[in-house]
Amino acid sequence: MYQTFEELRQACLGCQNCELAKTRHNVVFGVGAQDAEVLLVGEGPGENEDLQGIPFVGRAGVLLDKYLAAIDLSREKNVYIANMVKCRPPQNRDPKPEEMDCCIGYLRNQVALLRPKIIVCLGRIAAQRMLSPNFRVTKEHGQWIQSNGVWMMGTFHPAALLRTPSNKGAALEDFLSLQEKIRQVCEHTY
Ligand code: URA
Repeated sequence: MYQTFEELRQACLGCQNCELAKTRHNVVFGVGAQDAEVLLVGEGPGENEDLQGIPFVGRAGVLLDKYLAAIDLSREKNVYIANMVKCRPPQNRDPKPEEMDCCIGYLRNQVALLRPKIIVCLGRIAAQRMLSPNFRVTKEHGQWIQSNGVWMMGTFHPAALLRTPSNKGAALEDFLSLQEKIRQVCEHTY
């Protein structure tokens, strides 16, 4: 366990724990406020993220930033954004369970340093790993559970919303529910 974000970031940037290290251009460690009370967890970097080393900078990221702005959140101010795996899976395939196993220590360390009050899983991959193995986003999105004192919820992945825009209204409801939860349990987000 690293004691600062900078130490953890440095370790992560040099990581060779799995095959994804061989094909990555950049490690995508995470971005956001280091005192954020809200953590968002995506799946893994895509092409743009791999090239820039920053999570959610492609089309899906633009959409995510819009949902965040709708409830007065931003990566510059009051949320932290990370992924299940820090390196891009080739051809944007799902990360393999063993790749997530190799990488989960970094996310755990990020959680330990951040100590978020709320964690939102973006999409099936993060939700099945962090909430429950059979999590169904279409059925269970927006449902809150409390785990070790942290409020957790799964919602649609923004890339899935680009493919299925009819779910955008339901996603907005989840973000409004997040806003409500922040008002209930966070101290300095708003
Ligand atoms: N999709 C993700 O899950 N994470 C990113 O950082 C970008 C796209």
